[in-house]
Amino acid sequence: MSDADRVALLSNPGFGRIFTDHMVTVRYADGKGWYEPRVEARAPIPMDPASAVLHYAQEIFEGLKAYTLPDGGVAMFRPDANANRFNLSAQRMAMPALPVETFLQSLHEIIRIDRSWIPQDPEGSLYLRPFAFASEVFLGVRPATEYLYLVIASPVGPYFSGGVKPVTIWVSPDFTRAAPGGTGAAKCGGNYAAGLSAQAEAAEHGCEQVVYLDAVQRKYIDELGGMNVFLVLDDGSLVTPPLTGTILSGITRDSVIKLAQRAGRRVEERPISLDEWREGAASGRVREAFACGTAAVITPIGTIRGEDGDFTVADGGPGEVTMGIRKQLVEIQRGLAEDPFGWVHRV
Ligand code: PLP
Ligand code: COI
Repeated sequence: MSDADRVALLSNPGFGRIFTDHMVTVRYADGKGWYEPRVEARAPIPMDPASAVLHYAQEIFEGLKAYTLPDGGVAMFRPDANANRFNLSAQRMAMPALPVETFLQSLHEIIRIDRSWIPQDPEGSLYLRPFAFASEVFLGVRPATEYLYLVIASPVGPYFSGGVKPVTIWVSPDFTRAAPGGTGAAKCGGNYAAGLSAQAEAAEHGCEQVVYLDAVQRKYIDELGGMNVFLVLDDGSLVTPPLTGTILSGITRDSVIKLAQRAGRRVEERPISLDEWREGAASGRVREAFACGTAAVITPIGTIRGEDGDFTVADGGPGEVTMGIRKQLVEIQRGLAEDPFGWVHRV
């Protein structure tokens, strides 16, 4: 592809639609462990129709971003945290742990070779998608003995097409995402497959995302299909659902907690019922709400829609606290502000 064609593509990349020229692959076999990473031209991967992943979905993934820094360098945001979460997901899905150094090396290699694909505009970044799946050709149900790990990369703009404007979210009356003891805290493809019907239902109701309620009492907020949730209360404090095993331990969530605490805000991790959110929005106790994640960054939540109607947080616009935390986070990620936590990992 010519440089001019690439620049044109990168001017409006959308999310996850276009991909760079390369991929990194690492094979695993029982008794041999993980092989050395190989950088290859991005290409279809041949698969036997009996590959275990196609039948029993033994698969995990991660998502993180690389940014261009003001001095022209490139940095990833907290890739060590993604490496650790990848291995927690692997453990839950009975897959072998990948050495953290191999995970980081694979990311370095794809960024080095495909660095010209990183969008230069202030909303753009290179989304990195490391993933691993059971490649063993076998139809018995047990943990596989062979796996393939890959990293692909996609230049991206904002996840939601409207940019940073408040989203409307759907409270599914029927579907839950994860039950205690299930796979909610793992980043495995099956969780997302199981959420697609609810996501389609949300879209039919004019909503961008689903907010899942807990599977036991159908009362407390868990998270969105691909993001964690925070509320900002009238005393300036933040509340977010606790990590009890049914939600993903978001790296953005953790970063928001640390940024808010550094700014002197109280942050409580505790159960939040949908009723508390609705009543708080009506009384003014809940001033702002936002979703956060690698893809979504920090996205204000305006309206919550359910079968029994809508409610809106404040005037439905982006909140001041939300946008302030967003600005701080983005500036650290892009090397525009000091990084007191050591989150920015230069490539
Ligand atoms: N929750 C779910 C279900 C997600 O898919 C994601 C995205 O990765 C998140 C939360 C946010 O996690 P992170 O901030 O690590 O991207
Ligand atoms: C991410 O934010 O990295 C995710 O995996 C979430 C998904 C909605 C793209």
